[in-house]
Amino acid sequence: MEEPRIDHIMQIGLGFWASKTLLSAVEIELFTELAKHPEDLPTITGRLGLHPRSARDFLDTLVALKLLDRRDGVYYNTPSTDRFLDKRKPSYTGGILEMANRRLYPHWNNLTAALRTGLPQGEGGPSEPDTFATLYADPERLKGFLRAMTGISHGGNQAIARQFPWAQYKSAVDVGTAQGDLIVQVALANPHIAGMGFDLPEVGPIFEDYVAANGLSSRVEFRSGSFFDAPLPEADVVMMGHILHDWDLEQKRLLIAKAYAAIKPGGAFIVYESIIDDDRKENAFGLMMSLNMLIETPGGFDYSGADCMGWMKEAGFSETRVEDLVGPDSMVIGIK
Ligand SMILES: C[S@@+](CC[C@H](N)C(=O)[O-])C[C@H]1O[C@@H](n2cnc3c(N)ncnc32)[C@H](O)[C@@H]1O
Repeated sequence: MEEPRIDHIMQIGLGFWASKTLLSAVEIELFTELAKHPEDLPTITGRLGLHPRSARDFLDTLVALKLLDRRDGVYYNTPSTDRFLDKRKPSYTGGILEMANRRLYPHWNNLTAALRTGLPQGEGGPSEPDTFATLYADPERLKGFLRAMTGISHGGNQAIARQFPWAQYKSAVDVGTAQGDLIVQVALANPHIAGMGFDLPEVGPIFEDYVAANGLSSRVEFRSGSFFDAPLPEADVVMMGHILHDWDLEQKRLLIAKAYAAIKPGGAFIVYESIIDDDRKENAFGLMMSLNMLIETPGGFDYSGADCMGWMKEAGFSETRVEDLVGPDSMVIGIK
């Protein structure tokens, strides 16, 4: 038996202190400013419009949290915050943190209500029938969400582009593609692959800009439609990243059946997100992601590799396997 300890409890219980300090720093673009010029306290206080009462504690908290350095009274980004939180760099990954600050942080304040009622707590309130229609009603929110998805998925997308045996296949469609980073990374790493991104029509222009920025417009195209209404485009490989967890069990089964119908014989289905470990004891990120789906959607939930392989087998896939990607993410592969 382990000794009772308070520090682990307090670290988690007050974890929002650290979280909100970082989210506010991203909101006021502190890391972008410091990437332009490392600055001393009075200068950065003035440039960011901070109150003198807050500035020193705020910046030194970030130093103690190892998100900034301070040398001779001058504040600098760390190598990590410089790479990932400077908005002017292509490696900027703060979109997910901007969304966490604006949307998820206030929504999680209603976790207890979601636990008791099972109802979502996002913009549309507990009677929200359609998460994406509400989210996409505001063009800025649409763009912010799609950028946030690229931020959270980029590492896993690159791992899939490297790790999957692409040499065996010629075409791939990424279903619910958002900005398109998965199909972009697959096409960049595998020049023989013809790629498609499938998503709701309003996503098209944002996808096409991203594909063009990566120089792939001649090889990666957008297909528009709703995956509940239209058949999915046919391809050797169908991919769904962070899609199944948005929907209830019946909708998950429908999407898997549609993927099966769209995959050419011998082709593959890749499902990828923070797949929960089968024993449901280790992947805390995947389990909290499922609570996030409770808050954000009417019926969504995350699931284990065994769950997903079972649904794939029911849909007709002959072989299935789970492969780790990066951090909490894994992919479940089904072969038709
Ligand atoms: C959580 S995001 C996942 C984005 C991306 N696959 C990733 O992993 O980063 C869900 C995506 O599903 C798309 N989507 C939602 N409902 C859809 C529908 N009915 N038909 C097609 N795409 C849909 C959304 O527009 C969004 O791009």
